[in-house]
Amino acid sequence: MTDIPTPAPAAGPGPGPDDNTSPTIPTNAATSGHGAGGDAVVAAFFALHAGLPRQGPGSDATTRRLLALAGPLPPRPRALDVGCGPGRASLVLAEQAAAEVTALDLHQPFLDELTRAAAARGVGHAVRTVRASMADMPFPDESFDLIWAEGSIYHLGFDLALRSWRRLLAPGGAMVVTECERATGSPSAAARAFWERNYRLRTRDENVAAARAAGYAVVAVHPLPDDDWFEEYYTPLSERARAADPAVAGMREAVAATLEEIAMRREHGADYQYTGYVLRPRASTETDVNHR
Ligand SMILES: C[S@@+](CC[C@H](N)C(=O)[O-])C[C@H]1O[C@@H](n2cnc3c(N)ncnc32)[C@H](O)[C@@H]1O
Repeated sequence: MTDIPTPAPAAGPGPGPDDNTSPTIPTNAATSGHGAGGDAVVAAFFALHAGLPRQGPGSDATTRRLLALAGPLPPRPRALDVGCGPGRASLVLAEQAAAEVTALDLHQPFLDELTRAAAARGVGHAVRTVRASMADMPFPDESFDLIWAEGSIYHLGFDLALRSWRRLLAPGGAMVVTECERATGSPSAAARAFWERNYRLRTRDENVAAARAAGYAVVAVHPLPDDDWFEEYYTPLSERARAADPAVAGMREAVAATLEEIAMRREHGADYQYTGYVLRPRASTETDVNHR
C-alpha cells in the first residue's frame, strides 16, 4: 500500500539554549545560536513560535492518513510521539486510534501546551508528557506499538533515529516519520544554496534505501500536500513575524530568517517536500512496497 509521491522541508524551532540542541531545521546562522547575540536570537525565535498550532509542516488530515496507512494496530495502541512539540499528532492519535500516548519533547512549554489541549479535548487521561531527549529515551525495549515523529527526526538524523528507536517497538509495531527531502534532481540555485546552508536534503530513493538498510520494510510513502506547509504553520508564523517587535533583542534576525524560509517555500517549493514514511521492522524474508 502506498501513496504516490510528489515532492519536500521546514520545521519550527527545536529546543532553545537550555535544551542543548539546534533550534530549527532550517538552522539558519541567525537561528542556530552562533555569533553575536545568538541566545537572544534563539529566544526571539521561540517567541515567534510560541502557541502556534504546530511547529512544522503537517495537518490533522495527514496524521489521519498516515495512521490509516500504519494499520492494523491493537485496540489501544501504545504510541510514542517523538519531538511532539505542541502535540497535534498526539491528540489525533489519542482521539482516532484510542492510543495511550507518550509525548516526548525537550521543550517544556510545548509539553505544557499539549497537556492543556489534551484536557480541553477530553483526552487528558490518554496523553502523558515526558521531557527527555530523543537521543536517549528513558523507556524499556518493546514499550510501544507505534512510534510517531512528525517533523522532528532530523534533530537526531534519519538513519541514527531509525536504528536507535527500533528497540522501543513491540513485535508487530510500526514507525511513522516525516522528513524533508529533495523533490527534483535539478533544484534551483537558490534552493540548493539555502539547503546547503541549513540541512542536507536527500532524495526519496536515498531515504527509502536508508530505511531498508536500517532493517525496515517501507509500508507506505506519503508526500505531504503543499497546504500542510502553510495552513497551520507558515501562514500563522508569517503573521507573527510581520507583527513582531523589532526592538526585542534578536528579533530582527529571527524575523529575517523566518521570512527567508517562508519565501523560499513560496518561490522554490517544487524543489523540496515533506514526506511521510510508514515503516515496520523487517523480518529477513519480507519484501516491501515499490515506493514509486
Ligand atoms: C519542528 S518541531 C515539530 C514538532 C511537532 N512534531 C509538530 O509537528 O508540530 C521539532 C520538535 O522536536 C523537538 N526536539 C528537538 N530536539 C529534540 C531532542 N533532542 N529530543 C526531543 N525533542 C527534540 C523540538 O522541541 C520541537 O518540538
